Amino acid sequence: MEALRSVSTVAPPIRAHLSKPIFSLSFSQKKPKSPLTNLTELPKSKFTKLHVISPTISTEPTSSPEPEEETGSLDQGERFDWFSHWYPVVPVCDLDKSAPRGIKVVGLDIVVWWDKNDNEWKVFDDRCPHRLAPLSEGRIDQWGRLQCVYHGWCFSGSGDSKLIPQAPLDGPPVHSFPKACVAVYPSTVQYGILWFWPNTDPKYRDILTKKKPPYVAELEDPSFSFQTFNRDIPYGYEFLIENLMDLSHVPYAHHGILKTPEPR
Ligand code: FES
Repeated sequence: MEALRSVSTVAPPIRAHLSKPIFSLSFSQKKPKSPLTNLTELPKSKFTKLHVISPTISTEPTSSPEPEEETGSLDQGERFDWFSHWYPVVPVCDLDKSAPRGIKVVGLDIVVWWDKNDNEWKVFDDRCPHRLAPLSEGRIDQWGRLQCVYHGWCFSGSGDSKLIPQAPLDGPPVHSFPKACVAVYPSTVQYGILWFWPNTDPKYRDILTKKKPPYVAELEDPSFSFQTFNRDIPYGYEFLIENLMDLSHVPYAHHGILKTPEPR
């Protein structure tokens, strides 16, 4: 069962409840090219060591000419639908295949776990359909199912309930009842990052075939190297973006950390 959240054009999630994982992609070019198309160099008289590279970001891979269904574009007068876009969840290198992990993204509590039967990461709503216990507190059982820590219900990678230990074996097939299943979010791995589509409406089940996570050309350019890590910062993304665009603070706020000219 996937349909627990209906599509809605809503305001951004309440910031007071947000604890966003923020990704930092640190680019460096192995061999400087000429011309430096995506490289912004500050005037040498001010900063001789600090380079900021702005990756080329688009929503469509240039190598993939196939048309994509418009699912998140913003027409004039239309409100932005926060739940019709891909969001990065966590670098895969930070995940443990032997245990589920709870994360909050765009105000949603989700659980990420490795489904060894489908050989891929799964993103579920972090609430057991039984008594709403966090599934992230559970475990992966010996058959590779996600098991709730409270009463032991087990779920497959499709969200279907596969075991209710308290249900009599000769009783009605309660485990197949839709309300006994978990909501599953569409997800994918790209650039070593797990992404999820924050809507479990069945119409988005195959969203990856129509719309992909943002394409960053430099990440597929072998002349670039990059590092991926995440850090929880207790404020909204717009505050962070404003900070990243404000380079004049770097010699002072990061004094002694980043190599910059001495403050005047
Ligand atoms: S709350 Fe999950 S099995 Fe009961």
